Amino acid sequence: MSELFLPQELIRKKRDGITLTDPEIGFLVQGISDGSLTDAQLGAFAMAVFKCGMSLDERVDLTRHMMNSGETLQWGQLELDGPVVDKHSTGGVGDKISLMLAPIVASCGGYVPMISGRGLGHTGGTLDKLESIPGYDGTPNNSKFQSLVKEVGCAIIGQTANLAPADQRFYATRDVTATVESIDLITASILSKKLASGLDALVMDIKTGNGAFAADFKMAQELAQSIANVSSQSGVPTSCLITDMNQVLGHSVGNATEVSECLDFLINPNEANTRLLNLTIELAAYMLQLSGLEKDLVAARQKSLEALNSGKAASVFGKMIFELGGPIDLLENPLKHLPSMPVISSVKSPSSGYISEIDVRAVGLSMIHLKAGRTKSTDPIDHGVGLSEIVSIGQWVNKGDTLAMAHCRDKDQLSYLEKTLPSLITLNENQNESLVLIHEVLSSTTDSSHE
Ligand code: URA
Repeated sequence: MSELFLPQELIRKKRDGITLTDPEIGFLVQGISDGSLTDAQLGAFAMAVFKCGMSLDERVDLTRHMMNSGETLQWGQLELDGPVVDKHSTGGVGDKISLMLAPIVASCGGYVPMISGRGLGHTGGTLDKLESIPGYDGTPNNSKFQSLVKEVGCAIIGQTANLAPADQRFYATRDVTATVESIDLITASILSKKLASGLDALVMDIKTGNGAFAADFKMAQELAQSIANVSSQSGVPTSCLITDMNQVLGHSVGNATEVSECLDFLINPNEANTRLLNLTIELAAYMLQLSGLEKDLVAARQKSLEALNSGKAASVFGKMIFELGGPIDLLENPLKHLPSMPVISSVKSPSSGYISEIDVRAVGLSMIHLKAGRTKSTDPIDHGVGLSEIVSIGQWVNKGDTLAMAHCRDKDQLSYLEKTLPSLITLNENQNESLVLIHEVLSSTTDSSHE
């Protein structure tokens, strides 16, 4: 195949808005993987796609070739007695749902091989959160990962170098050539990694709002449509939920602070933050229904709630943590294991009113400033730093009430949060209408109709 094409001719073709064929896209992806496509050519190709777009067929081909650029997981030989199903979120502030969702779905008969990213930008990463648990090793090899999924029902681990490696190089180039925000390229990037884990069904949580990567609702809709189309064309039924990110999800941000919220959630679900609970159950229900474990959403919601309220999900979570190197008694003794900060103090409201707006992106960035997140992938993070008890939109606060509890390494960090946080939270004397949690759901099956 390789001698048939010249990279510059294919880039020219895309630049001029002409559709690329499957072998041409395969040639380009091969060039990304083996290095024969130079960085300049890859940047130019990304810009050509950014400007001219791709057809559905091109996106499906790009996704498949990127997925096949590395190892793909096969489940047949494990003889699982249920479907392999996963959820992916485009990322939000305080988005800790995976930690509860995977055990809930596993408790209901699903198998969840969840491969998560680290935090980059203003949103946190699931793996970083889990790594605040001492001993947790999110880097098992494929065979250990698969046998854990079989034995426990779920495992949450980090991205491995051999999973869709073409995407790793492509994403790094996009990052420095102003071509990240292409719906076509985001679709192929996310799905190449997700589909490489051999799923029977996928649920996407596409965040929109001021704390989301797709802040604009129209972009979130386009992304949802594109992902639903490409994954169903690739043989994986997918539901995309477009969900709100105009406030922190749950009441904590950080790493250990979020794990602590998850443990409380699993142990005492009736005291959980309502939006966090509702979204977790809704995502679980879509996973059960889409993968065929339940025939409708009503029954699926019921089953998910039972898994949570009975403590079954908590015990699956505890087992997963232990099998991946964490302490056996994390659920019973969280304070013994999670890092605790020397300075834990209330950030107080300077005035009274209803919480009407939160600059969620800036809240996420404040965490990066204090090293609870990172600006480049090699940065170490401070797992103990974070916020808990963050206020919600629509809540009334009196002057001097707590806006959040700050978990800090020192007094300087606390001063920074005391100065910053109140300026990110707008109060109003009138109560706003409460924010919609789920804006829209797009579901696609695996029929073969193209755009
Ligand atoms: N997340 C990804 O994995 N890829 C993108 O292109 C954007 C967000």
